[in-house]
Amino acid sequence: MQIKNSAVSMIIDAQDQKELEEIKLQFLGKSGKLTLTLKEITKVPSEKRAAVGQLANEVKRIVEETLEEKVSAFKTQVSSQKKQSVDVTNPGIKPNVGHLHPMTQVLYEVVDIFKQIGFQAADGPEIETDHYNFEMLNISKDHPARDTQQTLYLDTRNNKNMNAGETILRTQTSNMQIRIMEKSSPPFRVIVPGKVFRYEQIDASHGFEFWQFEGFMVDRNVRFTDLLGVLDYFVKKFFGKDTKVRFTSHNFPFTEPSLEGYISCTACKGKGCTFCKFSGWVEVLGGGMIHPKVLENLKIDSKTYQGFAFGTGLSRLVTLRYQMDDLRLLTNPDMRILEQF
Ligand code: DAH
Repeated sequence: MQIKNSAVSMIIDAQDQKELEEIKLQFLGKSGKLTLTLKEITKVPSEKRAAVGQLANEVKRIVEETLEEKVSAFKTQVSSQKKQSVDVTNPGIKPNVGHLHPMTQVLYEVVDIFKQIGFQAADGPEIETDHYNFEMLNISKDHPARDTQQTLYLDTRNNKNMNAGETILRTQTSNMQIRIMEKSSPPFRVIVPGKVFRYEQIDASHGFEFWQFEGFMVDRNVRFTDLLGVLDYFVKKFFGKDTKVRFTSHNFPFTEPSLEGYISCTACKGKGCTFCKFSGWVEVLGGGMIHPKVLENLKIDSKTYQGFAFGTGLSRLVTLRYQMDDLRLLTNPDMRILEQF
């Protein structure tokens, strides 16, 4: 009884888990007080042994139960302390969320604008052959138009399957007119955004790699005015309905007749500023009716089918949209720039 009382009061007074462990050892351990007492029972005269044994076991049960209760009391205390230490009024930690690069944002927007008038978007190789990039587009080996597209050639000397001087980085997305039209038959309504490469001295308005997008449509009864309408629709959707569009005649080997498209300057709205070199206009695209020779190269009957094509600098559209005066900002990984979009 004495053991029971002292054990129970010690357990109740225990301050922490460690103290409780010590008390347990002191009473219930191998040489603990209660354990030893239980061992002594054999020495009790046999007529009293049963009663003493019963009492001793009762004491043991009470001590063990009290211990268990205290242990679980400690546990709930600890977890409620933990809960209290969360200050729900603290502001949360804001995770750094990324977003699409302005180039990609504009690309998606352009694809969307053309989708609305039935154009499909396509993709194609950046490593290309002279055949697709030039020959099939009516730009023969000695054509002066080649001088305008400073071509980067791949060193293929160790590859027997490739002809020297044949494998290049595409200089224009117009290669995809050929790749798409040779695989299928008219009608076509396609746009192709993609990267192109030229051997250029890098400065604020020139890069050795930049983005273009090509568009073309081939069907029966396609006219020059369809091209003008589509381009006007695109410019107004992309730059706003107050933007003015102007076309001048031009010359491309793969279109006849050809045009160049200008829009009123996005920075000064046509008044004249440094951005548009005080002309009020900025050149944005080239286009024209697909040359019958290109269609014939593709075995498309140019008497039955006509088509138009156009190409524009996608990178240029981004710089015009955000009035960036340096193309290099688009490839600069500085977060202070990218976070602005
Ligand atoms: N590929 C031409 C360039 O890179 C742009 C172009 C002009 C594409 C006229 C066309 C086009 O499809 O019809 O300068």
